[in-house]
Amino acid sequence: MEYKDLVEEAFKAREFAYTPYSNFNVGAALLTADDHVIHGCNIESASQTPSCCAERTAFFKGVSSGHKDFKAIAIVAAPKGTEDANFDYCAPCGVCRQIMAEFCELDTFDVVLAKSVEEFRVYKLTELLPLAFTGKDI
Ligand code: THU
Repeated sequence: MEYKDLVEEAFKAREFAYTPYSNFNVGAALLTADDHVIHGCNIESASQTPSCCAERTAFFKGVSSGHKDFKAIAIVAAPKGTEDANFDYCAPCGVCRQIMAEFCELDTFDVVLAKSVEEFRVYKLTELLPLAFTGKDI
């Protein structure tokens, strides 16, 4: 699958974001090794801590439905109500990077940050999480 198509899927995933507190809507599309696309959006809670980022929603959906090998994730984000403008690159938070490192190879997994289907940047996970602590270190 081309990354522009994965970005398009992330935009679709973002439509379901539940963000009554931040009004910041994030969508993620996770590509499995066997080319399934898993959508994730951010889901917030009034007590904040239980909130879940779009990226982790996608990983938890994937892993809990039997997927363990992943190739890439596309991420799109913007405040609610700015659907046609103001999409800026949104890098995943540290907690999500650590979950990516749990299931993905640092040197091969691609993180696709997108403003639109035409404008995106691709990073290897190792660039976003250098000197990662993983299960291999235990
Ligand atoms: N958020 C994500 O879903 N992914 C990111 O990469 C950054 C932040 C969410 C968490 C929270 O619901 C909102 O964006 C504001 O922090």
